[in-house]
Amino acid sequence: MKQFKEQLGINIISTEINNKSLPLFLCEEIADNVRSFHSSIKGYEVTPLISLGNLAKKLGIKGIYVKDESYRFGLNSFKSLGGLYSIFKIVCEKLNLDSKKTTFNDLQNLEIKEKLKDMVFITATDGNHGKGAAWAANKLGCKSIVLMPKGTVEVRAQAIRDVGAYEVTITDLNYDDAVRKASSLADKNGWYLVQDTAWEGYEDIPNFITQGYTTMANEACDQLQEYNVEKPTHLFLQAGVGSMAGGVLGYYANKYKGNPPITTIVEPKTVACIYKSALADDGKSHAVTGDLQTIMAGLNCGEPNTATYPILRDYATYYAACPDFVTARGMRIMAAPLGNDEKIISGESGAVGLGLLSLIMERKELGEIKEDMKLNSDSVVLIFSTEGNTDPIGYDEIIYDGRNPSLFLK
Ligand SMILES: Cc1ncc(COP(=O)(O)O)c(C=O)c1O
Repeated sequence: MKQFKEQLGINIISTEINNKSLPLFLCEEIADNVRSFHSSIKGYEVTPLISLGNLAKKLGIKGIYVKDESYRFGLNSFKSLGGLYSIFKIVCEKLNLDSKKTTFNDLQNLEIKEKLKDMVFITATDGNHGKGAAWAANKLGCKSIVLMPKGTVEVRAQAIRDVGAYEVTITDLNYDDAVRKASSLADKNGWYLVQDTAWEGYEDIPNFITQGYTTMANEACDQLQEYNVEKPTHLFLQAGVGSMAGGVLGYYANKYKGNPPITTIVEPKTVACIYKSALADDGKSHAVTGDLQTIMAGLNCGEPNTATYPILRDYATYYAACPDFVTARGMRIMAAPLGNDEKIISGESGAVGLGLLSLIMERKELGEIKEDMKLNSDSVVLIFSTEGNTDPIGYDEIIYDGRNPSLFLK
């Protein structure tokens, strides 16, 4: 493990790749099945993969490709991929249906809906996952109960009510404690906990969610081929609990056996639990606790997913802990593209990877890291902008208002 000197408030460490065991639950065959499940759903469309060619040229990189997940099922984030797939798998199991031979639409007929009407799903969420899960439950005629951490902006809670949640509450708990509360309510009431993170003894459903996320990685591979790119050389994946990063990296570890892209896991500095775990270098995941603050609401999670942490530990090389200005920078770059590059509306939890990449390429303080990461004119970088504008007040403050000095590089 190597720890780079803190520069511009950014902490980065690197570790050796240890690709002894493949995460087989994210293999290509399973990912293809998951993708065909998603593509059978009404409203499914492949989300755009945008080439930021002018930005790449400016930064001295061969290519930068951004997958814009704000378009996913019209729900403004990638998260529904996991909620949908997990709820589908739970329902198939309850009804004794073969999930490979069943489509989501099959579950929406009146006879089946009648059998499902007493099923209740519960989850804790900073916003995006709850919206996807409530949307999926509603489509099947089931109830969903959603707990949100303190400090959640009302507009995010309303967005979940708007897609048909039965009950949405902003609690006075932090995210990790809200998850514990959802889990205990599920146990007490016989509800189904659909949580997008795993812990010992609760792994099957989170693993379905992680499998759900492979669809966007799978689509990106095909879209890169259309740009004549065989394989990205670098990935920047943002992490809250690490399910999304685990799903994407686990899929690429299977697909590009022995030679996955050079991957950086990027987190908010105040809640960098994957970074902390890699830094401890003891193979285990470690939590960050306390009253954690960041504008990256979707990444504000202090406890790693124990089922995906081993993938991040074994297949990522760099772990970065970034102040909030880094994601604000990424959001602004995508909102004001260079030349004929396409504009991307990216929210606080979707842009930190691009913000970090731009700083590494442009700031001499990060030159050692740029060299270590082998970022140069042969590099093709893939980034997932995992959400659109999910907090319009926060988005305006960053993009149009720009009066908060802490959201700029000093
Ligand atoms: C927009 C967005 N991006 C990324 C993430 C991170 O996903 P994970 O918690 O699986 O690391 C989240 C989580 O809620 C999110 O909402």
